[in-house]
Amino acid sequence: MRFDDKVCVITGGALGIGRCLTQEFAQKGAAVAFVDADRQAGEENLAAIRALGGNGLFFHGDIAEEDVLRRFADVVIARYGKIDYLVNNACLTKRGILSSCGYEDFNYVLRVGVSAPYFLTQLFLPYFNPGGSIVNISSTRAFMSQADTESYSAAKGGITALTHALSVSLAGKVRVNAVAPGWIDTGAYYSAEYVPHYTSADTAQHPAGRVGEPHDIVRVVQFLCSEDSGFITGETITVDGGMTKLMIYSGDNGWEYNVSNI
Ligand SMILES: NC(=O)c1ccc[n+]([C@@H]2O[C@H](COP(=O)([O-])OP(=O)(O)OC[C@H]3O[C@@H](n4cnc5c(N)ncnc54)[C@H](O)[C@@H]3O)[C@@H](O)[C@H]2O)c1
Repeated sequence: MRFDDKVCVITGGALGIGRCLTQEFAQKGAAVAFVDADRQAGEENLAAIRALGGNGLFFHGDIAEEDVLRRFADVVIARYGKIDYLVNNACLTKRGILSSCGYEDFNYVLRVGVSAPYFLTQLFLPYFNPGGSIVNISSTRAFMSQADTESYSAAKGGITALTHALSVSLAGKVRVNAVAPGWIDTGAYYSAEYVPHYTSADTAQHPAGRVGEPHDIVRVVQFLCSEDSGFITGETITVDGGMTKLMIYSGDNGWEYNVSNI
């Protein structure tokens, strides 16, 4: 799969899954424009993309801010004129109702995780080439929860609903889909020296037999950007090694449900 002459815009592209996305799109021929709140990591990743022979643009800023989104879009359009793909990847958590997540923190997560993807879509809409595609990064936490995760879960539910709403509104112009990752170990995209360490239960709770890694997400994002997925829009594809399909009753395999944990 190649993306020569395509322009791919990615939020949160400095570290983690976003870093893997930027590098993989660049290696497959796309020009990659990414925004991130971490200036140092963003500049390092831009240098890495260029070292790979890629064409990149890094914009530093907090995508919770409307002004940052406007200036980022202006810079991208001034450089490239048109775009082909928008990957709304950046998100974060400020925990939830059982801890200190108040009005400001809750709204901040929604601004990063839902408002920014919506507004970037609006800003870039006049500039999509034919065959354009938006991929939103959701989470399996859009559908299931641990305690004290309301800010993040609400953002992921929001971006999942935003995905199908936009797919209908933008019919015939841009396809809009989402990927809902499960547990993705991003350590290798923070440090080249990172060595993963999992327990046997960590891997066994995934029917696929392992924890996920960023390329698992990138491959699906690239499929959703490519014309091979031209008949898919409004869809959210779960990529979690089957973790959310494994039903466990207390007593199964020696596992005990400890109510004091919730
Ligand atoms: N890693 C997982 O297990 C997992 C699971 C499900 C969903 N996801 C989703 O995948 C996406 C990427 O996850 P990740 O684990 O790579 O995240 P991460 O925290 O490792 O990296 C996120 C990147 O986004 C940037 N960022 C965060 N807030 C920002 C802001 N306000 N403005 C600009 N940049 C900002 C960070 O600086 C960082 O570079 C997120 O949407 C996340 O919710 C991840």
